[in-house]
Amino acid sequence: MTELVLGTWAELAPMLVPLRREVFIVEQCVPEELEWDAYDAVSVHALALIDGEAVGCGRLLPDGHIGRMAVRRAFRGRGIGRAVLDALLAAAAGRGLGLLQLHAQTHAQGFYAQAGFVAEGAEFDEAGIPHRRMVRRLPS
Ligand SMILES: CC(C)(COP(=O)(O)OP(=O)(O)OC[C@H]1O[C@@H](n2cnc3c(N)ncnc32)[C@H](O)[C@@H]1OP(=O)(O)O)[C@@H](O)C(=O)NCCC(=O)NCCS
Repeated sequence: MTELVLGTWAELAPMLVPLRREVFIVEQCVPEELEWDAYDAVSVHALALIDGEAVGCGRLLPDGHIGRMAVRRAFRGRGIGRAVLDALLAAAAGRGLGLLQLHAQTHAQGFYAQAGFVAEGAEFDEAGIPHRRMVRRLPS
């Protein structure tokens, strides 16, 4: 059974760190020094668990930026990423945020488009990976 929890970095880091290390640092070769930043401490984090095992995550910054969306490879394609994103969208609505923004890896644009995000501007490089900025407005 998939369980979704929201929490702070202090609460969830023990489960978020190995998950993000596996997906971003090992699988996608993101440099360690870029993966861990000061935004984790001020974000609300969403974590998906299956039978207590951490399988997916993402974070919402106070300014409406969503990021660090990751699902363990073996668990992709079964709605876990969407459940994490929906939990962050609900958290954003609860905080009264009107505009959500993210930097989508270009291969994942379709995933965010399914959730109502629209690409803006040109492709750019971040951590050696091509990205597009995407936005979604929430009803006020
Ligand atoms: C991107 C990622 C988080 C998606 O998670 P996921 O659990 O596989 O996605 P879901 O199964 O919830 O997919 C939800 C919908 O988006 C679609 N989708 C998922 N990944 C997609 C992709 N790369 N391109 C286009 N559509 C995609 C699914 O088909 C599904 O559509 P449906 O509802 O019509 O069936 C996951 O692939 C991942 O962790 N990738 C590696 C890390 C990464 O690139 N993170 C994104 C950083 S911007």
